[in-house]
Amino acid sequence: MKAIRLKTEYLKNPLGIDFTAPRLFWNCADGVRQTAHQVICHDENENLLWDSGKIESGSMHTIYAGTPLHSRVHVVWQVRLWDENDVPGDWSEPAVFELGLLHADDWRAQWITGDYIPDPKRRYPVDCFKTTFVAGEIKKARLYATACGVYQAALNGQPVEGFTLAPGVTDYRKRVQYQTYDITALVQSGENALTVQMADGWYRGCCGAWGLRNQYGTETKLLAQLELMLTDGTVQTVCTDGSWQWSNDGPVRFADNKDGERIDARRTPTYSGHAKITTHPVQPTTSDNEPLTEHERLAAKILHTPSGRTVLDFGQNIAGILQFTVQAKAGQRICLRFGEMLDENGEFTQKNIQTSNEKITSPLQQVDYVCKAGRNDYKTAFAIFGFQHVLVESEIPVDPAAFTAIAVYTDMERTGWFSSSNELLNKFFDSTVWSAKNNHADLPTDCPTRERHGWAGDAQIFCPTACTLFDYAAFARKYERDLCDAQHKNGCFTQIAPVGGVDSYMNAMDGSAGWSDAGVLIPWDVYAAYGDRKILEENYDAMCRYARYKIGTLGKWYPTAMPTGIGLKHGKDISNYGQSYGEWAEPEDVKAFAISEFVSPHPEETTAYIVYLMEQMEKIARLLGHDADAAEFAAAAKRARSGYQHLVATKKHSLDTDRQAKLVRPLYMKLLNKPQTAYARKRLIKALDNYGWRLGTGFLSTPFILDVLADIDLQYAYRLLENEELPGWLCMPKQGATTIWENWEGPNAAAPASLDHYSKGAVCDWLFRVMCGIQVDGENHFTITPRPGGHFTHAEAAYVSAYGRVESTWHKTENGFTFTITIPANCTATVILPGQAPQELAAGEYTLESAYK
Ligand code: BGC
Repeated sequence: MKAIRLKTEYLKNPLGIDFTAPRLFWNCADGVRQTAHQVICHDENENLLWDSGKIESGSMHTIYAGTPLHSRVHVVWQVRLWDENDVPGDWSEPAVFELGLLHADDWRAQWITGDYIPDPKRRYPVDCFKTTFVAGEIKKARLYATACGVYQAALNGQPVEGFTLAPGVTDYRKRVQYQTYDITALVQSGENALTVQMADGWYRGCCGAWGLRNQYGTETKLLAQLELMLTDGTVQTVCTDGSWQWSNDGPVRFADNKDGERIDARRTPTYSGHAKITTHPVQPTTSDNEPLTEHERLAAKILHTPSGRTVLDFGQNIAGILQFTVQAKAGQRICLRFGEMLDENGEFTQKNIQTSNEKITSPLQQVDYVCKAGRNDYKTAFAIFGFQHVLVESEIPVDPAAFTAIAVYTDMERTGWFSSSNELLNKFFDSTVWSAKNNHADLPTDCPTRERHGWAGDAQIFCPTACTLFDYAAFARKYERDLCDAQHKNGCFTQIAPVGGVDSYMNAMDGSAGWSDAGVLIPWDVYAAYGDRKILEENYDAMCRYARYKIGTLGKWYPTAMPTGIGLKHGKDISNYGQSYGEWAEPEDVKAFAISEFVSPHPEETTAYIVYLMEQMEKIARLLGHDADAAEFAAAAKRARSGYQHLVATKKHSLDTDRQAKLVRPLYMKLLNKPQTAYARKRLIKALDNYGWRLGTGFLSTPFILDVLADIDLQYAYRLLENEELPGWLCMPKQGATTIWENWEGPNAAAPASLDHYSKGAVCDWLFRVMCGIQVDGENHFTITPRPGGHFTHAEAAYVSAYGRVESTWHKTENGFTFTITIPANCTATVILPGQAPQELAAGEYTLESAYK
């Protein structure tokens, strides 16, 4: 038996983490059961740091417990396993991790900035910093760097690769992430030049729907420390300080995450001035997240629009950058505009992704490039665009082969695959995977174009699907930190984190049910998927403060009156407090949008989510051994559930409704008493009949409806899933979508919006969990209950869980169904096939027949 897929704190061979007792994870291959493991750790000089010895345990993880780890230590670790016969296997391939700079005094570098006094109203060219040094004979070299802004370093003209838009996004006033790069191969003997370009990034550049600027500060700044470990054992350090040269006369005349770049390739920076020393009150820390990196490379086809314009079509909507190589005369221009769609006349448009009034249009998503003589190589460095199409206006002929689009997203390991006999569903699934990639740029965004905000509701809705498609734990840990950084003093979580770019009037929506609840629901989902108690422990206080804030809203009615009909007695048990979104974005013919939706409380949704939240909090508190807290949350859940039951007994919030969301939510969250439940189940089917079995839910309930229907009758769930009419999941691929749309009508809507909003793809979790029946059920155990139905003749899902790769496939046959199930080594599964008794199976691949029709 052998250990595979070694990870340190969910990361693949991370450099620069700050865990001094990291968790080491692996999966098992070749064998049935792991009875013992042994981990050994060495430093890079092969000194033993830890030998765990043979530990009798079936757990596929351990916590480092060797020689105390200090800054910069490089650890190489391996695992060997004993199988069910107590036979030891081979040592695993080695994995590594390296600690970063843990203490303030590890940093000798000083923060530096450009030599000018920034005027918040102006935009500035990119800062160019340079220093030179003569390197001794080196064994290895590391660059530790960060910025308030975004930076890109190069050594001797070679880019230091590994993170696009470094250092990523946080609330820089509270937390700044630094990166650690292995630059050993870039250092040359003799003279070296280290250069760094720095742009505004999220720090000073456009953030949010309106592209608000200067959100975290006005003075961009850089911190960099290069450490050369020499063969004689000494360390040579090169640090940012006042001796660094500076100018802002390089080729990048303007750069902004959302707006794009203006390049004059004829320029080279003179570095004629000097950097200024400055300060920043926050000690940089590691992100302990996967980096934001380049991925798929796409080729273009050329289109000529009816008005004669030239458009590159990359065939797939992505979030990413553009690269081109052209031959030109000096001064020739190329203007590029990035967009997601062509309008009804077949012309390029950016209207669906922009917010505009007479003063502001955001984002611009454009590159204006002035060529130098000869060969011009361009790759976007300081922006990401959401696009499938690029409008090209060029003074040189456009050869599509010269252009490559590169997808950029956080480098999470892909863990989920699905396909079935329904091609439209397969396309919908692929579109969801793309939208998930496109919306993970160090933070979970709503869309990679218009707002690019870390909307908590979208992330919360999508989290179970994200945990299925990707190894999401490290990303979620980072986002939870962002949520906690933004938490209000009274415990209220924000609806968006990090907060930069949120209009002040939008702050009133903090606490919104389903959005701010992300601060509790995301850690809970991560625990459920990965068995990770630590994310609960680390955030427990913040979660409790939020839960208590929410309890405090029970019995409050503000800014409007108590809902009519409920009466004072039961009004105390509901929350009618504050502004919130409610269900949000139901189809217009189900619930027409009214501006009052924005400015009023939504007692039904809010009270429901209080019950739901309290129930998760009760489980979390019990799990962590906080029994008094658990009792408090259980009591609050009971109180809010009673309030809810009285609320839906009033006329205004009656269960006698065609609004599917109003029935799905209480059924999914189990909020109703028995007669109410029976009524709501029937009423939901009637509501679907009345709506032609199309999807009528909004933002919050769309991920729940198939579970609720499957609970009533599985065939109802399939009937809705297979609906190809509008609104419905499959109407998107039917119209040619390559990503998930914000509006069901997508580009065909009266006012098209974003075409890359992943939240409606949250239904994909159901395809794994119910349709193919894969559920993680505690450590090293699965429940596998495939549930074929509808017109499907085949479905298959593969999921690389925390405990290894599990697969479930079914095919319809003449006699029933054939099921193929793969259970990873060292795991067991309770397999329940339709119409059969549960069976306990050990690791292995099984083909099982069922006469189920
Ligand atoms: C965003 C969403 C978000 C919502 C809040 C939109 O503008 O794009 O996805 O959750 O506002 O209602």
